[in-house]
Amino acid sequence: MAQIFPKWTNQVPRKILIGLIVLLNAVVFSIWYFFSPEYTDVGYAPEQPVPYSHKLHVDKLGLDCQYCHTQVFESKQANVPATQTCMNCHTYVKTESEKLAKVRESWETGEAIEWIRVHNLADYAYFDHSAHVTVGVGCESCHGRVDKMDVVYQAEPLSMGWCLDCHREPEKYIRPVEEVTTMGYSVENQLELGRSLVNKNNIHPPTYCQGCHY
Ligand code: HEC
Ligand code: HEC
Ligand code: HEC
Ligand code: HEC
Ligand code: HEC
Repeated sequence: MAQIFPKWTNQVPRKILIGLIVLLNAVVFSIWYFFSPEYTDVGYAPEQPVPYSHKLHVDKLGLDCQYCHTQVFESKQANVPATQTCMNCHTYVKTESEKLAKVRESWETGEAIEWIRVHNLADYAYFDHSAHVTVGVGCESCHGRVDKMDVVYQAEPLSMGWCLDCHREPEKYIRPVEEVTTMGYSVENQLELGRSLVNKNNIHPPTYCQGCHY
C-alpha cells in the first residue's frame, strides 16, 4: 500500500498533521465557495447593443428611474423601456448620432432593441420588485449606484445569503417609500428610522424556505 505520510512525518505529532489537513480543506473550500458563480456574478457587465448610459441620463439629465422602469411599483418585473420612451427625446436630440443608429432602426422597423439581461436569478428562487419597493427598499440597496454607471453591472451577489442578510434585519435598509429611487440616500440614524418604519408598516420579510422557494 502506498504510504500516505512520507517518512519525515514520523517526527511530527499526528495532531498537527491532521490540523494542517483540515486547514488545507478549509482553504480549498473557501476558494471554491467565493469563486463559485454567485460570487463572480458581481461585476457582470455585458456590452449592450446601444451604448446607453445611466450616468448621463440619471445623474446629468436628472431622469427618475420610473421614467423608464415604469412597472417597478406595480409588478414583479421591472420592465426595460420600449424604444418609444427613448424617442420622446431622441426625435429631437442627437438625431444624427451613430450611437443612436440602432434606436432609430428599432423605431422604424418596430423591432425591439435586444438589451442583454444583467441580473438573473435562478428560476427556483421567487423575487418580486413591487413587494420590495412599495415598503421602502431602495433600488440602490440591491443595484448599487446605478446613477454612476455608464454601463450597468451587477453590484450585489443576489445569493441566498445576501437576501437573508436583509430579511433578518430590514431596519438597516428600509427608507420612506418616496425615497426609493433616490441615489446616495442617507440619514443620520438609519437604525432608528428603519425600526420605526418596520414597526409602523408591520414589515416581516420571510426567512423560511417556502418564502422564496415554491
Ligand atoms: C432613460 C431611461 C432609463 C432611466 C431613467 C433609468 N433606466 Fe435603468 N435601464 C434602461 C435601459 C434602456 C436598460 C437596459 C440597458 C442597460 O442595461 O444598460 C436599463 C437597465 C437597468 C438595469 C439592469 C437590468 C438588467 O438587465 O438586469 C437596472 C438594475 C436599472 N436599469 C436600474 C435603474 C435605476 C435604479 C434607475 C434610476 C436611478 C434607472 N435604471 C433609470 C433605461 C433607463
Ligand atoms: C428626457 C430625454 C431623454 C430620454 C428619454 C433619453 N435620452 Fe438619451 N440623451 C438625451 C440627451 C439630452 C443626450 C445628449 C447629452 C449630451 O451629450 O449633451 C442623450 C444622449 C444619448 C446617447 C449618446 C449619444 C451621443 O452621440 O453621444 C445615447 C446612446 C442615448 N442618449 C441613448 C438613449 C436611449 C437608448 C434611451 C432610451 C432608453 C434614451 N437615450 C432616452 C436625452 C434623453
Ligand atoms: C430587494 C432587491 C431589489 C430592489 C429593491 C430592486 N431590485 Fe431590481 N432586481 C433585483 C433582482 C434580484 C433582479 C433579478 C430578478 C430576476 O432575475 O428574476 C432585478 C432585476 C431588475 C431589472 C431587470 C428586469 C427584471 O425585472 O428582471 C431591472 C430593470 C431592475 N431590477 C430595476 C430596478 C429598479 C429601477 C429598482 C428601484 C425602483 C429596483 N430594481 C429595485 C433586485 C432588486
Ligand atoms: C435590502 C433588503 C432586502 C433584500 C436585499 C431582499 N429583500 Fe426580500 N423583502 C424585503 C422586505 C422589506 C420585504 C417585505 C416584507 C413585508 O412586506 O412584510 C421582502 C419581502 C420578500 C418576499 C415576500 C413578498 C413576496 O413577494 O411574496 C420575498 C419572496 C422576497 N422578499 C424575496 C427576496 C429574494 C429572493 C431576495 C434576494 C434575491 C430578496 N428578497 C432580497 C427586504 C429585502
Ligand atoms: C429570502 C429568500 C430565500 C429564502 C428565505 C431561502 N432561500 Fe434558498 N435561495 C435563495 C436565492 C436567491 C438563491 C440563489 C438563486 C441563484 O443563485 O440565482 C437560493 C438558493 C438555494 C439553493 C441552491 C444552492 C445554492 O446555495 O445556490 C438551495 C438548495 C436553497 N436555496 C435552499 C433553501 C433552504 C433549505 C431554505 C430554508 C432554510 C432557503 N433556501 C431559504 C433565496 C432564498
